[in-house]
Amino acid sequence: MTDRADKPVRVAKTVSASQAEMLQLVLPSDANTLGNVLGGVVMHHMDIVAAIAAQRHAGYACVTASVDQIDFLHPAVVGDVLVLKSSVNFAGRSSMEVGVRCAAENPRTGRRRHTASAYFTFVALDEEGAPVGVPRLKAETPDELRRYAKAQHRRTERLSQRSVYDGSSDTETQNDDNGDAS
Ligand SMILES: CC(C)(COP(=O)(O)OP(=O)(O)OC[C@H]1O[C@@H](n2cnc3c(N)ncnc32)[C@H](O)[C@@H]1OP(=O)(O)O)[C@@H](O)C(=O)NCCC(=O)NCCS
Repeated sequence: MTDRADKPVRVAKTVSASQAEMLQLVLPSDANTLGNVLGGVVMHHMDIVAAIAAQRHAGYACVTASVDQIDFLHPAVVGDVLVLKSSVNFAGRSSMEVGVRCAAENPRTGRRRHTASAYFTFVALDEEGAPVGVPRLKAETPDELRRYAKAQHRRTERLSQRSVYDGSSDTETQNDDNGDAS
């Protein structure tokens, strides 16, 4: 893949300029037999709200490169409203870390419970599908500065993990076509 990420980086953008919020009603088709929303459905919505923030920041189409651990803390049930919020925490050359928080709101009582949070990494691609430089992120508030510093640390961890995998013996030949790594 040709890397265009070294193109001159455009003007910095604030965190608030790209933050996104999305509401989703939990329908019976989203749930298991207990009426709890399926984890994959929550992950799908989290990916979408994260992509919106990444694309707003980048000004380019973005793809999901990786997702850090997702823990499901409280169930959301049929009839709840998922309240999903995303915010760019850090911008590298062509990649961005986006933090996502999902809460489940009971529309009758208004009570919200934290359902899941995760960090997504997106890469901005140009019209030819090559990574392209994104604006610098202007973290302004104490919370934004704290998130920026933590995201920078996670990026270092991620890249070192990635180099461990890159350096390992060929994973393609270790995995069967059906994804069984045994
Ligand atoms: C993500 C993708 C574009 C990276 O391509 P690549 O050729 O490895 O790109 P590079 O090595 O030049 O890295 C580009 C940036 O992505 C980051 N990156 C690449 N893979 C990453 C990963 N697995 N996790 C986190 N960041 C990653 C690099 O750190 C780099 O960041 P920087 O520019 O801010 O320094 C490519 O792997 C891809 O297209 N993957 C499929 C994406 C997709 O289709 N997602 C939807 C679900 S399948």
